[in-house]
Amino acid sequence: MFTVYKKKPFTEAHEAIIIGLFDKPVKFEEKLEELDEAFSGELTELVKSGDISARIEQTAKIHTFGKVPSKRLYFIGLGKEKNTSFEEIRESFGTIFKKVQKDKIEEVAVYLDSFTTESIDALDAAHALSEAFALSTYQFENYKQKPNEPEKQIQRIMVYLEDVEVEDIKAALTVGYSFGKGTNSARTLVNTPGNLLTASDLAEYAKELGEKYLFEVEILEKEDMLKLGMGAMLAVNQGSTEPPKMIVLKYQGKEEWTDVIGLVGKGITFDTGGYSLKTKAGIVGMKTDMGGAAAVLGAMEVIGELKPEQNVVAVIPSTDNMISGEALKPDDVIISMSGKTIEVLNTDAEGRLVLADAVTYAKHHGANYLVDVATLTGGVITALGTETTGAITNNEEWFEQVLEASFEAGEPIWRLPLFEKDKQRVRNSKIADLNNSPGSEGHAIMGGAFIGEFAENTPWVHLDIAGTATTKKDTNLGPSGATGVMVRTLALIVERFES
Ligand code: BES
Ligand code: MN
Ligand code: ZN
Repeated sequence: MFTVYKKKPFTEAHEAIIIGLFDKPVKFEEKLEELDEAFSGELTELVKSGDISARIEQTAKIHTFGKVPSKRLYFIGLGKEKNTSFEEIRESFGTIFKKVQKDKIEEVAVYLDSFTTESIDALDAAHALSEAFALSTYQFENYKQKPNEPEKQIQRIMVYLEDVEVEDIKAALTVGYSFGKGTNSARTLVNTPGNLLTASDLAEYAKELGEKYLFEVEILEKEDMLKLGMGAMLAVNQGSTEPPKMIVLKYQGKEEWTDVIGLVGKGITFDTGGYSLKTKAGIVGMKTDMGGAAAVLGAMEVIGELKPEQNVVAVIPSTDNMISGEALKPDDVIISMSGKTIEVLNTDAEGRLVLADAVTYAKHHGANYLVDVATLTGGVITALGTETTGAITNNEEWFEQVLEASFEAGEPIWRLPLFEKDKQRVRNSKIADLNNSPGSEGHAIMGGAFIGEFAENTPWVHLDIAGTATTKKDTNLGPSGATGVMVRTLALIVERFES
């Protein structure tokens, strides 16, 4: 996919060259002087007339008419060099790759030096390039008789630069591309309808991932869950004709199985709400209720590609949440694997039930640090909107690591409180240890508080992605639908982990 050259791209013949432009005025006399000369100064004229601009997001396509061997030049405005962030460079790459893809170009050269600044070096730019390429050109293949596959896709990207070692750039390209690909895999899982992605399908997918990357795979069946006493997980599955799966993937990157990071992802393949049935408007879109599972599987793909020296156990509780004569009912009391009993007040608060047993099981597999990811509550959307993932923790230091990873990944998270009084509300039941739905006040916090009861003293961060797992609008880095949010954050948490 990527080839790296240590020279300027203007002497070779390509279908297109992508060039980034910083600042006003655009300085053709520096890095791009030769190019302007080949055009007898006409590029400078186009800058003067505003046809080529360094304004952020501004793109321009110039046909070269043989003045240089390549056919077309694509310019992308990057704004003021001093203010530009990694995030903006990544988005700009997304914008220009989308445009090039639309023009049905198959082979493109990128002049990487034109994207670097004092704070963003060629390695950062390479990472931004490959990640943005994967993300921005993602499409979900739909189920129309005439599917939406584009006729032509970018097949080869030639990366040109002058100073940095080729091998280092290749490594950075690989990292960015893996992050993008892992995110896209998560997107596809989330976009897939519930009838085509059951718990069994998800387990099959995880198995294949395990075979590809040599993870240890364990799939718990209903009988296994019964033996282990996973009463909370089983309760949610009770009304379903689809068998439940507790999916476990282990990746050992250290000599010893110590300092194990547990990644736990909610894998509800469809959430009807159960007897606390959702409304006819609220139920639409609930195929995405396995967004947490998808994030964990996407991150495991990245981990499989990049093989960090860390230990990870991924645990995914998967089932749908359905209704039948056997289904769980409000008022029922169930016994979780931990032994804690739960009074079910709302069968639509099912995510925290399956996660309760999954968190307990992750600890059984030796997890010393936990992150759970879940499309858990509508409340988090009310609180934080659809751009920011809600977080809750029981450990400041662990939260710092998660926060830094999310910042670096460009996937913002914001912490919600978890005070003693909040904990008391989930412990408030006359007939059981816990209740699964203490009422609508602060219910994003209640969801986290409930899961925290099972994390107990293990450092834990809860990430509620109900608002961020999907988006209604197309962006520079992907179409509307599933975002694949938290794949990159989770992968970075693992890569950067320090005990
Ligand atoms: N899967 C939903 C949360 C959700 C809502 C995800 C909207 C994506 C978009 C979850 O299982 C749920 O139903 N939560 C309830 C919790 C309540 C019953 C305490 C909610 O948010 O209303
Ligand atoms: Mn629900
Ligand atoms: Zn749900």
